[in-house]
Amino acid sequence: MQKPVRKAVFPVGGLGTRFLPATKSMPKEMLPVVDKPLIQYAVEEARESGIEEFIFVTGRGKSAIEDHFDHSYELNDMLQQRGKSNALKLVTDMLMRPGSFAYIRQQEPLGLGHAVWCARKLVGDEPFAVILADDLVQSQRPCLRQLVDVYEETGGNVVAVMDVPREHTDRYGVLRTGEDDGRKAEVLGLVEKPKPAEAPSTLSVIGRYVLLPEVFDHLERQEKGAGGEIQLTDAMARMIGRHPFHGLRFEGHRFDCGDKVGFLEATLSYALDRDDIAPAFREALTRYR
Ligand code: UTP
Repeated sequence: MQKPVRKAVFPVGGLGTRFLPATKSMPKEMLPVVDKPLIQYAVEEARESGIEEFIFVTGRGKSAIEDHFDHSYELNDMLQQRGKSNALKLVTDMLMRPGSFAYIRQQEPLGLGHAVWCARKLVGDEPFAVILADDLVQSQRPCLRQLVDVYEETGGNVVAVMDVPREHTDRYGVLRTGEDDGRKAEVLGLVEKPKPAEAPSTLSVIGRYVLLPEVFDHLERQEKGAGGEIQLTDAMARMIGRHPFHGLRFEGHRFDCGDKVGFLEATLSYALDRDDIAPAFREALTRYR
C-alpha cells in the first residue's frame, strides 16, 4: 500500500513574459478561460483527484490568487441582497475547507525546480503532486487523477507526457524510454529542452507530476541547468534507476495557456463545450470565417 497523494504544489511564481502586458501586475495563472482563472481549473482538477492540501508557491500578484480563493463577505452579501443566487453559488462552491490552502513566497524566480523546492517544508516526507496551471488539460477523467492511478500501481514518480512535433523538443523536458505499453512508458532518461536533433524521443513532459519526496534531496543542490534556471527535470533525472519512474500518455487535450495561440485555442474549446454559451458563440464565429 503506497502513501496517498494528499498534497499538491502550484508554482505560480514565474514572470509570464510571453503574456505581457497582461501579466505585468497579475500572475498569468489568473488569466480567465471563458469565465474562470487558470488557477481555479487547476485547483478543481486537484480536488477531483483526491488532493486535500493546496500549496501555492507565489511571486508577484500573490494577493490576486489569495483573494480569489478567499471568502468575500461584501460580494456574497451583495449577491444575496440582489437575489443573484446562481452567482452566489458559483463563488461559494469554489471555497475549500479553512486551513487547506497555504502560500509560500519564492523570493526570486530562479526556475521551476527552485519553486518546488520552496515548498519542501510544507510537503514534508510524503509523495505530492505538482500542477502547472498554465498547462490546461481538458479530459473526462482529471489528468492528475490519471497520474495518481499510475502512482498507486507503481509506487514511484509519474509525469504526464505527450508526443510533440520534433521541432518543439527544445521547449520541454524529453524522455528516453524503456518498456512502453503505449500508455505508460518507463523513464530511462530525461533531458531538459534538447535541440530537435539531439532529443532522445519526442515524448515530452507537460505540467502534471506525482513525485516522491526524495526529489527535494536533489533540488537541495540548487544546481542551475538549461537557461541558467534550477530545473525540476534535472532533479527528477537523478531519481531514475533509484525509484520506479513512468511517463503517462494521459487521456485528454492539453492547451499551453502560457502561449497566446494555445490560450486562445483553450478559450475556443472550453466555450464550445459550454451548453450555456456554445450556441451563441458558434453563431458569432460564423462572422469571422
Ligand atoms: P514557464 O517556463 O512558463 O515560465 O514556467 P514563466 O516565467 O511562467 O513564463 P514565460 O515563459 O516568461 O512567459 C513554468 C511554470 O513554472 C512556474 C511558472 O509560474 C509556471 O507555472 N515558475 C517558473 C515558477 O513558479 N518559478 C520560477 O522561477 C519559474
